[in-house]
Amino acid sequence: MIKLGVNIDHIATIRNARGENHPNIIDAAKYVKKCGADSVTIHLREDRRHIKDTDLINILKLKNTPINLEISTNKKMVNIALKKKPNYVCLVPENRKEITTEGGLNLIKNYKKIFQIIKKLNKKKIRTSLFINPNIKSVKLSKKLGTKCIELHTGKLSKLIRNNQNYHIQLNVFKKCVELANSLNLKVHAGHGMDYKTTNILSKLKKIDEFNIGHFIIGEAVFYGLNKVIKRIKKLSK
Ligand code: PXP
Repeated sequence: MIKLGVNIDHIATIRNARGENHPNIIDAAKYVKKCGADSVTIHLREDRRHIKDTDLINILKLKNTPINLEISTNKKMVNIALKKKPNYVCLVPENRKEITTEGGLNLIKNYKKIFQIIKKLNKKKIRTSLFINPNIKSVKLSKKLGTKCIELHTGKLSKLIRNNQNYHIQLNVFKKCVELANSLNLKVHAGHGMDYKTTNILSKLKKIDEFNIGHFIIGEAVFYGLNKVIKRIKKLSK
């Protein structure tokens, strides 16, 4: 069974729309876990547009709920992670104007910086994953950088699938990246823009360790509820 990380940033967005505390983010984390999520993902953005620092502090108090903290490679953000020690950190690129994380990390440009960050996180026994575009070069560089895990950006593939376009070339590239990562002993996660159809297609590749899904789950839950949606994703991930 492929593990499922549920990203609850969008629940914080709804809460923030009224500036009070409903829907409560801690209750949301507990509930998605109860529904079958293996871990809970939050992205503490530099602009704090959804998840806030207090959310991170409170969520880390939860027992039996592995927390995957997404952060940029900004020094202040890395220091927060080193101090608060979530179970996992996923390094992502961040751009103030973007609506969501639009692509993977530029590992060439940021090689030295990322190398140092991974070293520090490894020292604190925080498992790091790198959010990368699905290409061979990025997988090889990730290994060289000393990470134990990568998350392959499924945005492009998901969009092709969603729009009923030919996705087989992209899926093949994806498959090659998964195989290479497996052979290099890297754990492989996949995420961004995923829905039922992408989950079903990517589950067939087998060697993926975890899916990270946010927007679709929260959006679909408006109609069917978190419990049903998470259970259906889990069923498709078998
Ligand atoms: N994985 C990473 C690293 C992300 O940055 C995001 C978006 O926050 C996701 C997964 C989830 O993407 P989506 O919300 O489109 O399911």
